[in-house]
Amino acid sequence: MNFLEERIIKDGVVKEGNILKVDSFLNHQLDVELFDQMGAEWAKRFEGVEINKILTIEASGIGIACVAARHFNVPVVFAKKSQSVNLDGEMYTAEVESFTHKNKNNVIVSKKFLNENDKVLIIDDFLANGCALQGLISIINSAGASVAGIGIAIEKGFQSGGQIIRNLGYKLESLAIVDGMNPETGKINFRN
Ligand code: G4P
Ligand code: NA
Ligand code: NA
Repeated sequence: MNFLEERIIKDGVVKEGNILKVDSFLNHQLDVELFDQMGAEWAKRFEGVEINKILTIEASGIGIACVAARHFNVPVVFAKKSQSVNLDGEMYTAEVESFTHKNKNNVIVSKKFLNENDKVLIIDDFLANGCALQGLISIINSAGASVAGIGIAIEKGFQSGGQIIRNLGYKLESLAIVDGMNPETGKINFRN
């Protein structure tokens, strides 16, 4: 087991509906030392890959991306979320449907902060169905930039996102892949 899997076993809580609660260290209270370790691990896994920018999405991705960025020495841009409304032409937008929240948001990045020269590492806390990720990829494509890779903290391997993204040929590095969880026993199975 790696350091993140160990932490999930120690402090993660399995909820009904296949939800893993990690709010004591990952997405409400934030363990910055852990984020630093995550950043170091991604830096190792993406060694030799040209990256000049990190892209994430509000809210939970931001803290992780900022700490990870210290290991890449690149700026962080985060996509903003808004309810679907008409938007003007100075931004890239993509519509993202949230499976968990059952709503639709536009994710938005200003054209000022993404261009065709960018080689982008996407960072986020969770990968479930991959809707958020596909929105970010679509925005990167709209900008004519390229996806250098994707770093995820926790992938829920029993949902479809990981397989879809890997099948599209992206280099996806999830630090922990949960293949199953049992809310009765609290047991969590990780992929080897
Ligand atoms: P998808 O983008 O992969 O399709 O995910 P989905 O719509 O299913 O997830 C919606 C939100 O719920 C995302 O956060 C995602 O990170 C989060 N999420 C999904 N599964 C879990 C889980 O098991 N545990 C926890 N804690 N979160 C989960 P969000 O609401 O879009 O963003 P944020 O504001 O929380 O960052
Ligand atoms: Na998130
Ligand atoms: Na979240």
